[in-house]
Amino acid sequence: MSGSPPQSEDQRGPGRVIFALDVDRRPEALAWVERLSGAVGAFKVGLELFVSEGPGLVQELVARGERVFLDLKFHDIPATVAGACRAAGRLGAFLVNVHALAGPDALARAAEAAREGAREAGRPAPRVIAVTVLTSHSARDLERLGLSGPPGEAVLRLAALARDAGLDGIVASPLEAERLRRLWPGAVIVTPGVRPAGADAGDQVRVATPAGAVTAGADYLVVGRPIRDATNPRAAAQAIGLEVARALSAPG
Ligand code: C5P
Repeated sequence: MSGSPPQSEDQRGPGRVIFALDVDRRPEALAWVERLSGAVGAFKVGLELFVSEGPGLVQELVARGERVFLDLKFHDIPATVAGACRAAGRLGAFLVNVHALAGPDALARAAEAAREGAREAGRPAPRVIAVTVLTSHSARDLERLGLSGPPGEAVLRLAALARDAGLDGIVASPLEAERLRRLWPGAVIVTPGVRPAGADAGDQVRVATPAGAVTAGADYLVVGRPIRDATNPRAAAQAIGLEVARALSAPG
C-alpha cells in the first residue's frame, strides 16, 4: 500500500524532480521532454495538456521510458473515479491523483482500481495520491464551501481520510509536508510550490527551496516555471536535482 519511493531509483536527487508540462500542444510538450529527459525524474501531465492531446500523449511518453504523473484530480462518484483510475493504471502513469473530497468510498476504490488497470496492462501499479485543499482556496472560500475551521485542519482531516482509505500519499505544500509526514509516516508526499533560493515566487504563496522541501519530508517536487523560464532549463533542472541530492545526503 503506502511506502517510501523505491530506493534504487528515487533516492537520487534528479529522480525526485517532476517537471510540470504546463503547455497545451504535443510538439511543445515533446520538445520539453527532449530538453529535460534524464535531468528530471518524471513529467507531470495536467488537465490542460490532457484535455488538448489526450491519453495518446501519456502513452507516448511512457513508451519513451519517461515516468508520468497524471495530475487530473479525479472527483466524482466512486464508480467513475474507479473507472478513471483503472484507465490511468492501464496507461502506465507512475503517479495519479484524486481529490480527497470525492470521499472515502471513491478513495478506497481508486487505489484498488489503479492497481487492477496496471495489472491488466502488465505494468507496475501507480501510486495513487490525494489532493486535499486546493492552495488557491482562502479560509473564506472554504467557509463558503461549508468546510469550517482553519484550512490547515481540513488538510490534515482529508489526509487522514486518504491514509485510511489505503491511498499511497498526498499532494501538499512544502509548508504542510512536515506535519503530514508526522500524521502519515509512510506517505508519498508530492509538493509543488518549490522555488530555488532567489527565484521569483510568481503566484505561488507558500513556497520553499528544493532542499527545504525535501528536508520537510517531500519525496517528489513538482517544478514548472523555475525550470521553464530559466535561460538554460536543463541546467536549472540539474541544479535543483543536485540541491535535492545534497539535502538527502546531509546528516541529520
Ligand atoms: O510553475 P510552478 O513551479 O509554480 O508549477 C507548479 C505546478 O504545480 C503547476 O502545474 C501547478 O498547477 C501545480 N500545482 C501548484 N500548486 C498546487 C497544486 C498544483 O502549483 N497546490
